[in-house]
Amino acid sequence: MKPQAQILLSLVVAFVAALLLAGPIALAAGDPDTDPPLVPLPPPPAPPDNPITQAKADLGKLLFFDPKLTGDASLSCGDCHDPKQGWGFNDPISRGYPGAVHWRNSQTVVNTAYLGKLFWQGNAKSLEAQAPIANKGAVAGNGEDDVMEARLRQTPYYIEKFREIFGTELPNLGDAWMAIATFERTLSQRDTPLDRYLAGDKEALSAIALKGKELFEGKANCIECHNGAMLTDEKYYNLGVPRPFEWEEMGLNTVTFRWEAYAKGVREKYYRDWKDDAGLYYSSKRPQDAGKHRTAPLRYLAYTAPYMHAGQFYTLEEVIDFYNDGGADNEFTDGTHGLENKTSILKPLDLSDEEKEALVAFLEEISGEEIRIKLPEVPPYDVMPNVPGLTQAQAKRIGLETHLAVAKQQ
Ligand code: HEC
Ligand code: HEC
Repeated sequence: MKPQAQILLSLVVAFVAALLLAGPIALAAGDPDTDPPLVPLPPPPAPPDNPITQAKADLGKLLFFDPKLTGDASLSCGDCHDPKQGWGFNDPISRGYPGAVHWRNSQTVVNTAYLGKLFWQGNAKSLEAQAPIANKGAVAGNGEDDVMEARLRQTPYYIEKFREIFGTELPNLGDAWMAIATFERTLSQRDTPLDRYLAGDKEALSAIALKGKELFEGKANCIECHNGAMLTDEKYYNLGVPRPFEWEEMGLNTVTFRWEAYAKGVREKYYRDWKDDAGLYYSSKRPQDAGKHRTAPLRYLAYTAPYMHAGQFYTLEEVIDFYNDGGADNEFTDGTHGLENKTSILKPLDLSDEEKEALVAFLEEISGEEIRIKLPEVPPYDVMPNVPGLTQAQAKRIGLETHLAVAKQQ
């Protein structure tokens, strides 16, 4: 054999040996499947029965910031999803309905168009389904359907716009959720260094973020769960995120937690014993799902601190430290209730300080520019112009004779 051929042969042998070795090692790292690659964010999808139009998005924007769609008409979606707070709420646990507090961290609505499972618990399957849950939930909007709809019907601007867009005589509440969902679909940030990099601009990511990307997809194994365009597999895991201190130390939070557990129909024994957010359990009622949450999408993070379902970590550095330790423990992982639900995927990562910094830099460069808007002025109420059943004299007495005259002409 010629020396060159010999070198080639030994290279091939070494390569095959490396492959054979690498195979079992990758499996040993707990890699049960192939992970979809990171890809640029496509244009926002919309369901066939609710296509995106500019007029509908404009209406949805007003409704998103209009407190008419909550119980006492004092807060709107935009109060817990504030554009200046990353379209979320920057306390660990969100503000709640007046007099109450929420029990989970308020998530950003930016890029939610792409998610098939909404909420930390993944229990809403579309934005159209999610909006009414938000504004009717007791500790969030706490609204009643008939009251919210009546308020829309007492707002001349809405009467006109709903008629134009949905072709109805008077506004229907269901259409309001369609418009809000449409507005949310316009809130996507597709222009990030990562998207530009993935689209072929190899200069788009900084050198340190590029190193972070390699770690993300390699040594740190984040890609196992955070993959695809939204950097989530939309599956559920218990990472051992610690229980929020608020549920022990803050009276109102404790009350909310107990109410949520009760309202979600947990068994009496669990209602008494469990002191932490059982996540997916509330949907499935299977104890082995206790403490599992939907893998969070990782876009727009630069603006949405604190992190995790109850804002347990204030900074991305803290999040990375948590993963570097192989996650932690909570009462559904440590055997307190006979459950050991922690995912076996998390392992201590042994990251150096530089590697941790690189991961943080990478996460920041998936955020893009902040989406800021001028808050709209919401339209005022007026008495409903088409008041049925009034006589001319009654209408005159309460100052509605012109409305009645107009109604009669129609
Ligand atoms: C009182 C505060 C509050 C109000 C009002 C509120 N939200 Fe939320 N929102 C939250 C919190 C907290 C969560 C996370 C709750 C959970 O996972 O259980 C959330 C979650 C969401 C999500 C899920 C995001 C994701 O990544 O899955 C969307 C979308 C959303 N809200 C939109 C809205 C819309 C639209 C409205 C108005 C119709 C609204 N919210 C009203 C606090 C609020
Ligand atoms: C086993 C699956 C899994 C792996 C591996 C994983 N994550 Fe997560 N990640 C999740 C889940 C589930 C959540 C939500 C957990 C919760 O709130 O309890 C989450 C939440 C996060 C959050 C908080 C997002 C927010 O909006 O609050 C960040 C940041 C994050 N992960 C980054 C990473 C990084 C970086 C890595 C790699 C070092 C990683 N994750 C590895 C499943 C995973």
